[in-house]
Amino acid sequence: MSRIAYVNGLYMPTRSAVVQIDDRGYQFADGVYEVCVVRDGRIIDEERHLKRLERSLGELSIRWPVTPSALAIVMREVIQRNRVRDGTVYIQVTRGVGPRNHVFTPETVRPSLVVTARSVDWAVADESAAKGIAVISTPDNRWERVDIKTISLLPNVLAKQKAKEAGAGEAWFVDSKGFVTEGASSNAWIVTTDGVLVTRDVDRGILRGVTRDVVLKMLERENLVFEERRFTIAEAQSAREAFITSAGNLVMPVIKIDGRIVGSGMPGELSLKLRQLFFTEAEASPRIWRPKPIAHNSKLFDK
Ligand code: PDD
Repeated sequence: MSRIAYVNGLYMPTRSAVVQIDDRGYQFADGVYEVCVVRDGRIIDEERHLKRLERSLGELSIRWPVTPSALAIVMREVIQRNRVRDGTVYIQVTRGVGPRNHVFTPETVRPSLVVTARSVDWAVADESAAKGIAVISTPDNRWERVDIKTISLLPNVLAKQKAKEAGAGEAWFVDSKGFVTEGASSNAWIVTTDGVLVTRDVDRGILRGVTRDVVLKMLERENLVFEERRFTIAEAQSAREAFITSAGNLVMPVIKIDGRIVGSGMPGELSLKLRQLFFTEAEASPRIWRPKPIAHNSKLFDK
């Protein structure tokens, strides 16, 4: 089955889906994106993602390419056409097409919209979570507006590649004062030896992760003690537990930071509990589609 992408009003096979070369996303990384989890045919935390998309668009003065309710329809159509029951749906909005010129005119350029969806075998992520991942640290060399979810991800790409080459699953950015900001594609957390959950406060140094927000709500519900504050790599290395959160990873335990074992060297109890409970707090849309039951084939079953 060929994959189907939505590009500016058309559903087309991904291999022939194209945007123009003078799209500002291609020329300047002038655009924003969202990644939502699809689980059991339902979009997880759609409203939170669309709200963050609205904020990102607003911060960059990019217009909505279509109304939010039209986008919701497109997302469902792409999920269904790709028969994604468990996976992710990706939304990208760029400022649009225009002759290459740094200066833009918001009124005249029409934003471009791309939506894709793909299946993900969450059992593979569960296997990683059962083992935990290693992270490395790297200086945060990104711009100051990482609170906006832009497609301008070169430092994130290079950090993630560096992690992979070091045998790690994520890189944690460290700011000029020695504090962890966040992961290359996730938010960073620790559990102190006193059992306090810590994640960096929301300032312009991090992206306000939807998964982070959901976990914070879960902590409130479960009456767990948490602090939104900065922490260093040294504090994380001597913590009881560490983990990351993101749409792709949900809650993923961290067992090693820059080669130093965290806690017992096994995924922490709290990290695993939060991972297990995640979908009790997340908001799931009504189911989008059901796989058709396999037709009874009498020839197969008749003796
Ligand atoms: N990344 N911080 C950064 C830099 C991220 O790229 C992401 C998500 C997060 C976590 O956000 P959320 O919980 O809303 O997924 C934090 C996505 C998954 C990506 O780039 O693929």
